[in-house]
Amino acid sequence: MSIKTLIEQRISCNYFDPEHTLGDADIKELVRLATLAPSAYNGQNWRFIAVQSASAKQNLLKHAYGQGKVADAAVSFIVCGRLDLHTGLAQALAPSVSAGILKPELAENMLHYANEAYHNQPQRQRDEAIRSASLAAMTLMLAAQGMGLASCPMTGFDATGVAEEFELSAEEIPVMLITVGKSAANNWPQKPRKTLNEVLDFA
Ligand SMILES: Cc1cc2nc3c(=O)[nH]c(=O)nc-3n(C[C@H](O)[C@H](O)[C@H](O)COP(=O)(O)O)c2cc1C
Repeated sequence: MSIKTLIEQRISCNYFDPEHTLGDADIKELVRLATLAPSAYNGQNWRFIAVQSASAKQNLLKHAYGQGKVADAAVSFIVCGRLDLHTGLAQALAPSVSAGILKPELAENMLHYANEAYHNQPQRQRDEAIRSASLAAMTLMLAAQGMGLASCPMTGFDATGVAEEFELSAEEIPVMLITVGKSAANNWPQKPRKTLNEVLDFA
């Protein structure tokens, strides 16, 4: 299926088939594809928690304001953004240096600039964590669509509660939940969008 078709067919699914499950291989494939999303400096400042066991789903539901889809869907991913992009960057870039894609001097420069940009800059760290995790979340949803699965992005959850329940580190924020599974009946179609005239300017 073309990317155009996948985009045109995706909807935020509210009702999932509670009998449907996903195996670890499919979950890993979804996350593998999500990690092909871009991130600042290729810092990959994200982590994914695949909430799939019945007990973990109930724990997530407690913090999701009663949104039952986190229990019905086969899996709900807690897409976490990391605030420590700059301190984790050397490790993130090492494979690109080893593969000869990045010259060591360029990698050093990138570390320098990333440190200048993010060290002691909590607002920038948070912005970047949310951007990177959001791009990964969107990529994950399109990957799910490509695998014939439905998804729903969610920020309707208590971030503090989720962080505590799933033991996120101080450097991680739960940016978004992405529920993934098999669509059940009675979901909305894709909703109309604003016209291009309203949202597009040429400059
Ligand atoms: C940042 C964000 C947060 C959202 N949070 C929720 C949510 O908590 N619960 C929910 O049912 N849908 C949530 N949605 C889904 C939106 O309601 C949905 O994307 C929007 O209505 C457009 O519909 P569509 O995705 O089917 O095209 C969220 C979407 C985004 C992008």
